[in-house]
Amino acid sequence: MKNIPNIKLNNNLEIPIIGLGTWHLNEEECARVVKKALEIGYTHIDTAEIYLNESAISEAIKNFPREKLFITSKAWTDNLDYYRVIDACKESLAKLGTIYLDNYLLHWPNKNMNYENIFKAFKKLYDEGKIKSFGVSNCTIHHLKDLLPICKKLRLPLTVNQVEFHPYLYQNELLYFCNKYNIKIVAYSPLAQGKITDNKKLQDIGKKYDKTTTQISLRWIMQKNIIAIPKASSEKHLKENMNIFNFELSNDDIKEIDGLGNNLRIINPSFAEFEY
Ligand SMILES: NC(=O)c1ccc[n+]([C@@H]2O[C@H](COP(=O)([O-])OP(=O)(O)OC[C@H]3O[C@@H](n4cnc5c(N)ncnc54)[C@H](OP(=O)(O)O)[C@@H]3O)[C@@H](O)[C@H]2O)c1
Repeated sequence: MKNIPNIKLNNNLEIPIIGLGTWHLNEEECARVVKKALEIGYTHIDTAEIYLNESAISEAIKNFPREKLFITSKAWTDNLDYYRVIDACKESLAKLGTIYLDNYLLHWPNKNMNYENIFKAFKKLYDEGKIKSFGVSNCTIHHLKDLLPICKKLRLPLTVNQVEFHPYLYQNELLYFCNKYNIKIVAYSPLAQGKITDNKKLQDIGKKYDKTTTQISLRWIMQKNIIAIPKASSEKHLKENMNIFNFELSNDDIKEIDGLGNNLRIINPSFAEFEY
């Protein structure tokens, strides 16, 4: 079994730099893929109440030492208030068959939310040990500017911002902002849902290192000290996405990938507030 390197969050919790994304993995497929991933050496699993696969994950992890796992789940955005966060977490814990989450995220911000009220619930869960860390997802710099003073007031460390991040959406200003406040970025859709696989420049860079385009993209993300959670369902892809720790991209290659971006945002639902 291979060991995936960890990154330290601002509350000292360690998170494996590669995790398994599980969106669109439902029921039996999810249980099968997570079991296979654990065999291969994954220990970090990303889920959410909205993915409707927490029970399947529970089935896959039931014989695995809990302390070796890093499980992230997320509270969905609809009607979110203090009590819904508490209830949603309780439900996720029950479905996952665990007494704590390693990270629990606000899935989508929304300017009509009462953030202070909602974050008080996350703080209660954090103080009770039901969640080992707290984070957000899909936050722009504007959102973070609103949220950080509330976190400070509540003494609730904001550990991660999980956002879309891949060679076609290099969010360097957001990364700079997060680095400044010691918030780690978790890159979702790190393979642009497979769209980067046939990129010619990534293929050329890959030839130099004898790596695939997906491995080059994941390594580019990793060398920015960013955690990535690629979703994969075949054993071949699961193994390939973990096999990125035995080479290092040169600065020139990193710069070339930095410049690839065509600002392709794949996840852009109608309720998103990227521009606010
Ligand atoms: N917080 C949020 O709002 C949010 C939003 C979106 C996603 N996420 C999280 O991020 C995770 C990953 O994002 P994603 O699922 O959107 O997309 P992704 O990880 O960028 O791409 C997944 C796609 O890439 C393919 N793939 C995986 N490994 C590959 C490889 N080595 N070679 C070629 N193709 C490969 C997969 O195919 P196979 O399945 O056939 O292997 C699948 O079609 C999600 O599962 C979810 O956990 C969070």
